[in-house]
Amino acid sequence: MRTLIRGGTVVTATGASAADVLIDGETVAALLDPVHTGALVGAADRTIDASGKYVIPGGIDVHTHLDMPFGGTFSADDFETGTRAAAWGGTTSLVDFAVQPKGGSLRETLDTWHAKAEGKASIDYGFHMIVSDVNSQTLKEMDVLVGEGVTSFKMFMAYPGVFYATDGEILQAMQRAASSGATIMMHAENGIAIDVLVAQALASGRTDPGWHGRTRPPELEGEATARAIRLAQVSGAPLYIVHLSAQQALAAVTEARDEGRNVFAETCPQYLYLSQEDLDAPGFEGAKYVCSPPVRPKDHWAHLWRGLRTNDLSIVSTDHCPFCFKEQKELGRGDFSKIPNGMPGIEHRVDLLHQGVVDGELSLARWVEVNSTTPARMFGLYPRKGTIAPGSDADIVVYDPALRHVLSAETHHMAVDYSAYEGRQVQGGVSAVFSRGEVLVSDRRWHGQAGRGRFLPRGACQYLR
Ligand code: URP
Ligand code: ZN
Ligand code: ZN
Repeated sequence: MRTLIRGGTVVTATGASAADVLIDGETVAALLDPVHTGALVGAADRTIDASGKYVIPGGIDVHTHLDMPFGGTFSADDFETGTRAAAWGGTTSLVDFAVQPKGGSLRETLDTWHAKAEGKASIDYGFHMIVSDVNSQTLKEMDVLVGEGVTSFKMFMAYPGVFYATDGEILQAMQRAASSGATIMMHAENGIAIDVLVAQALASGRTDPGWHGRTRPPELEGEATARAIRLAQVSGAPLYIVHLSAQQALAAVTEARDEGRNVFAETCPQYLYLSQEDLDAPGFEGAKYVCSPPVRPKDHWAHLWRGLRTNDLSIVSTDHCPFCFKEQKELGRGDFSKIPNGMPGIEHRVDLLHQGVVDGELSLARWVEVNSTTPARMFGLYPRKGTIAPGSDADIVVYDPALRHVLSAETHHMAVDYSAYEGRQVQGGVSAVFSRGEVLVSDRRWHGQAGRGRFLPRGACQYLR
C-alpha cells in the first residue's frame, strides 16, 4: 500500500517546510518537493489532502499507567481504551510503567505487563519498570531487562511503605544502571517529610483535597530532586526526573545540566495548565486534580514554560493515570490521603502543547521536539520513531492548526467519567493519524484495531555525554 500525503507543511524538530510524504507499507519512503510530486500521484494507492495542515511525527507519550494497580484500585484505562484514546489525540507510541510488586521478580512483572498489552494495544508500546523492592535478585534482573529492551527503571523517593526506596537502595540501583547503560527515572518528592505533614493535617481536621497540595510543598520536590541528582553523580547513572512540577525542582535540574551532567526532566500538561485553585474547588471536586507531585500555585507555570524553551525540561508526557470520580476518587472522601493519585490526559497532550504554540510559549519545531523527537531519543527509539524521514516508521499525524474544539468528558475517548480540562477550548486538532502506514483516525472516525500495536524493545538513552 502506497500513500501520498500532499499539500501539507511538514514540521519536524528542525523546522517546517512545504513537502509531500510518500509512505510505502509501514515506513516513510520519501519526502518530496511538491513541485516534483505530480508524476507520483498515479503510483500511490491513496492520496491524502493535507492542504492548510501540518504533517508531524506521531506523538510519543513516555509516561503512562494503563491497567495499573494503585491506591487499592486499578487505573481506569486498560491498553485497549488507553491506546485508542492516545491515537485519537495524535499519540502513536507510548511507554508504560510495569510495576514490580514487593517481593516479586522484575522478569515475571514484565511478562504480566506484556500480557496486559497483547491483543489490546492499537499503537506501539514499550515498557519502563518500576523497581519497588531493591535486593540482589532485582539488581541482577535489571540487566536481564535491559537485554529485553526495557532500558529505564523508575524509583520513588515518595510513598513510604509502598514504592519508596531509601537513598542507599537508590544508589545501588543507580550503580547497576550505570554499568548496563540504563536510565534511572525518579519520582522526586521527600515522602518521609510529606507523610509527617499529611498526618499533622489530618489530625487537625484538614481533610479536603486542597490539603493534598499543601502537604506536598514544592520545597520537598526541590530537595528530593537535588538529592537524586547527587546520588546519580556519585553512581554515574543517567537520571531522568519524571513529572517535574515545581520551580525549585527545575532550578536543581538546570544547575545540574549547566554542570554538564546526564540529568534530564519532563513535565506534564497538568503542571502547565492546572493549579492549587483546582485542588481547592468547592466540595470534593478538587479530588479530580489529585496527583503527585501536586498541581502547584499558578506562578510555577511560567518557570516550566521557560524550562521547556531552554531544554532544561526536555519532554512533556502525560503521567496518564486515570481514576473515575465516582467510586475511585470517592475512596478519599473525608481523607484526602486516600484519594487515588493520578489524572487522565493521554488524549489531550498534543493539543494542549499546540495551545502553547498558539499562546506564544513554544515554537512549532519545539512543539514537535518535546512531543515526539526527544521522547524517541531519550528512550532509545530514534530514528524508527520521532521523525519523518526515509526509513522511519510511518507514524504520522495530519494536524489542523485552525480547528477549535472543546475538551470534555462528553466527547473524549478515555474510559474515565470526568475531564480535568472540562469546557476548555483549544485551537488545533488531529485530522488524520497513521501508525506504521495504517490509518487509525480520519474524518472523525476510528479505523484502528485492538491488538495491532507492537512491543517496542528500546535501546539506551541517545543523549548521554
Ligand atoms: O499521581 C500520580 N502521579 N500517579 C501516578 C503514579 C506516579 O507517581 O507517577
Ligand atoms: Zn511518580
Ligand atoms: Zn506516573
